[in-house]
Amino acid sequence: NAGAAQFVPEGKDWAALRAASTGCRGCELYQDATQTVFGEGPVPARLMLVGECPGDREDTEGHVFVGPAGRLLDKALADAGIERDKTYLTNAVKHFRFTARGKRRIHETPRRGEVVACFPWLREEIRVVRPKLIIALGAVAAKALLGPSFKLTEHRGEVQEHDGLRVGVTVHPSSVVRAENFTEAYEKFVADLVVLKES
Ligand code: URA
Ligand code: SF4
Repeated sequence: NAGAAQFVPEGKDWAALRAASTGCRGCELYQDATQTVFGEGPVPARLMLVGECPGDREDTEGHVFVGPAGRLLDKALADAGIERDKTYLTNAVKHFRFTARGKRRIHETPRRGEVVACFPWLREEIRVVRPKLIIALGAVAAKALLGPSFKLTEHRGEVQEHDGLRVGVTVHPSSVVRAENFTEAYEKFVADLVVLKES
C-alpha cells in the first residue's frame, strides 16, 4: 500500500472527496474496519478540529466523534464557547485501528506509517475547508500536521505556524475521559480551547 494519494481526486470538492474516500486502500487499516469515517461540518469553516482516528462507535456509525470521546468533546466545546455546528471535525486517520479481544474491539494508536499514508485526505480537507485555525487534539494529530518530532507536552495551548497553516495544539478528549484527576484534566482542556479559539 502506497498511501492514499492514488485514491484522492485532487482539486475536487468536499462531496467528491468524501465519496472517493470510501474506496481508499492506502494502508492496511481498511481491511478490518467497517468503513471510512470522513470529516464533517461546514465547508468552509473558520475552525477545524483534528482528532486521531475513529473509535468503535465512529467505525460502526460512520460519523466522527459520536462515542464517549465525542460526548466529552461536545461538552468541552460548549463550555469553551465554541459552536460544534460551525466547526469542521475530522481525524488524522480515517479508519479505526483496533485489536479484537473476544467480542470487544480495543482501540490502538495508529502507526506513523498509517498517519503518513492517510495525510493526503487531511490535506485535501484543509484545502476545501480553508480553516483560519486548526486545533490538533492529541499527539497523533499534532505530529501529522507539525512533523514527527513535535512535542505536545512542551507546546500545549500554543499556536504553531507551519507550512502556511496555523495549528493550535491540546490533548485528546480520550485522555481527559481516562484521567485520574478528571476535573483538573477537564478544566485544563477547556482552558486550552478558550485560549486557542481566540488565537
Ligand atoms: N477519537 C478520535 O480521535 N476521533 C473520533 O472521531 C472519535 C474518537
Ligand atoms: Fe486510506 Fe486512511 Fe483508511 Fe488507510 S486509514 S485505508 S490511508 S483512508
